[in-house]
Amino acid sequence: MRAVIIGAGRGGTALLDVFHQIGTIEVVGIFDQNSSAPGLKRAQELNVPIYDRVADLLKSQGLHLVMDVTGDPSMESVLREQLPAGADLVSGQASRLLWTLVQHESTWQTELLHAEKLAGIGSFAAGIAHDMNNPLQLILGLAENLTDETDLDAVHLQAQDIIDAVKRTTAICRDLTSYSRRTSLRQDCLVGVNGKLDEALKIARYAVALQDIDIRKLYQPDVVVKGNPDELLHVFVNLITNAVQAMEHRGTLTLETSAMAGTIQVRVSDTGCGIPRELQSLIFEPFFTTKPPGKGTGLGLYNIKNVIHRMNGSIGVDSHIGRGSTFTLTFHDESGVGESATPS
Ligand SMILES: Nc1ncnc2c1ncn2[C@@H]1O[C@H](COP(=O)(O)OP(=O)(O)O)[C@@H](O)[C@H]1O
Ligand SMILES: [Mg+2]
Repeated sequence: MRAVIIGAGRGGTALLDVFHQIGTIEVVGIFDQNSSAPGLKRAQELNVPIYDRVADLLKSQGLHLVMDVTGDPSMESVLREQLPAGADLVSGQASRLLWTLVQHESTWQTELLHAEKLAGIGSFAAGIAHDMNNPLQLILGLAENLTDETDLDAVHLQAQDIIDAVKRTTAICRDLTSYSRRTSLRQDCLVGVNGKLDEALKIARYAVALQDIDIRKLYQPDVVVKGNPDELLHVFVNLITNAVQAMEHRGTLTLETSAMAGTIQVRVSDTGCGIPRELQSLIFEPFFTTKPPGKGTGLGLYNIKNVIHRMNGSIGVDSHIGRGSTFTLTFHDESGVGESATPS
């Protein structure tokens, strides 16, 4: 379906983002009277042509949909007059309804992401308890010694050991609070991918046993993507958790990053059970899981796909039964300058 968007304010920007995620809709152009409207910048990032005149935009070949989100009644009458044959106009109340649905959908996606995170925290409990218990036992032993230690130098040394142990427990709490925090949509910045993968490994350790897993890191230095750091962390934790669960805690986990010719890729591979071909298209559906209750929610890959699409990236899987799976995230470097999307 070929669509054009009139109005590049908040509504137009949101529509652009939603349409961009839907493979069957192609946005062939956008217009706004205000040349600094936020949606025009977004359009440029997405390579959607920007028009200076509505009349030119409506001349686009084979148009199916004209989306008017200006809320301006005079625009609506202009559009009605010039509407090409075969195209439908959505404006006024209908476009407001659409805008409400789009907002509803994005709130819903954020809530699902959060719900899944909280469900996941449950499986972290055992790992956290274990990791907290070690330093706590150490602190207890040291403190017991201190009660009848008379040598001042020894007291100082043991006090230092206690401080270090407390710092270790605090670090665990810090990792987990940042992970469980409710993330807000659209706080995008440049995120170092290698650092996020390392952070995700630390957090995944609480959920799945990593001690018998060989971890290979094939990082290209300084790989960055534009996105929300908390959401990206969540994506990586989920992919790593899935990979380790598929290996039943034994095998090789490979984390790979690369940036080449404006394309950034992140690959998470395992040597686990693999995914049957007929299930490969289902695993990204909400609530699809092959894990017993308590182990899986079926929301992991669904949320990952949403996050990656919001970042204008894509996710793919390559998997072979008994040999393992590779999940590949692909992003395009949008910081590339000198690429004008405006038609001449
Ligand atoms: N690395 C992997 N190896 C094998 N199967 C996988 C892998 N990642 C995901 N899957 C399959 O996809 C399903 C959905 O994954 P996900 O959305 O993360 O939900 P959950 O992990 O809660 O089941 C899993 O139940 C599993 O069958
Ligand atoms: Mg999962």
